[in-house]
Amino acid sequence: MENKQNPIDESIYDIFELDMDGVDLTERLFLTINEQAIIVLKVKEKLYAIGDICSHDDGPLDNGLIEDHCIVCPRHGAEFDIRSGKALTMPAIKDIPSYPVYQEGNTLYIGMKK
Ligand code: FES
Repeated sequence: MENKQNPIDESIYDIFELDMDGVDLTERLFLTINEQAIIVLKVKEKLYAIGDICSHDDGPLDNGLIEDHCIVCPRHGAEFDIRSGKALTMPAIKDIPSYPVYQEGNTLYIGMKK
């Protein structure tokens, strides 16, 4: 893909394209790419993509509350930074995956590490 606007480093990531025609990404979108459950979040008009998995027990973060740049696990309240996947509070001590993401027109691009 030749795209000067592409902010995802293709030497590090495989880039997956999703047709967003007819998809209303108002807050979150649940996807599976390469068997990885992913949540794409739209917060203050910015897109983020993180693993839909809490590192405390490997369950989904699902519709966990978003506070500023944190998602709160709906089970025991661990918080993760949606920009980096960093675990911020107990009981989670391990980070979760985060993925580069951007949208251009009706196409959503997500990078998965090679
Ligand atoms: S399962 Fe997420 S904090 Fe326990």
